[in-house]
Amino acid sequence: MKLFIDTADVAQIKEAYSWGIVDGVTTNPTHVSKTGRKPIEVYKEICSIVDGPISLETIGLTADEILKEGRELAKVHKNAVVKVVNTREGLKAVKQFTAEGIKTNVTVTFSPLQAFLAAKVGAGYISPFVGRLDNIGHIGMDVVRQIRTIYDNYDYKTQILAAAIRHPLHVLEAAMAGADVCTMSFDVMKMLYDHPLTDIGIEMFLNDWKKVPKS
Ligand code: E4P
Repeated sequence: MKLFIDTADVAQIKEAYSWGIVDGVTTNPTHVSKTGRKPIEVYKEICSIVDGPISLETIGLTADEILKEGRELAKVHKNAVVKVVNTREGLKAVKQFTAEGIKTNVTVTFSPLQAFLAAKVGAGYISPFVGRLDNIGHIGMDVVRQIRTIYDNYDYKTQILAAAIRHPLHVLEAAMAGADVCTMSFDVMKMLYDHPLTDIGIEMFLNDWKKVPKS
């Protein structure tokens, strides 16, 4: 399973990328607004740091608006993936992007049928928002499992990108469910490394090493 970092914070992206486990980046309008910077500058900087798919989100709501914006975003870098909302207009645009060879990530997805439609128009990635479903009392990861079954049944090549990930257990469940990608915040990614028994084990080894004659 590929790991993407879900942020527009370049300091966090640089740090996480240096760990060697980051395969790509997902941004969204909320992340960009937190930087206080011009989107284009942020996007270019992210693309210069990470060699992998970088999702850049369109804002328009009509297919024409999305197409206009998306074509510009696709020019930012060869790794740019145009993020499009999962609506009728959005999917119309995705069909056209697919025909033009522009990579897409269909976002704000909450049902397996929405994901099915996105696959039909050739979406590169589908982003089910797991944590936001959990927030309203649904089991968000069930949607990932349902999408996996549908895509496998019909051999759709759209990659499942588990999103709105809140904690390491979500990452584990996404991997068990067969998600192709899991995108998460810097903090969740950092937590994947942590285990108290690892810390205790290292401390024990270092203490015992002190008792070993050195020469
Ligand atoms: C994914 O691409 C989205 O940017 C992200 O996961 C949104 O989720 P959140 O705002 O609920 O964390």
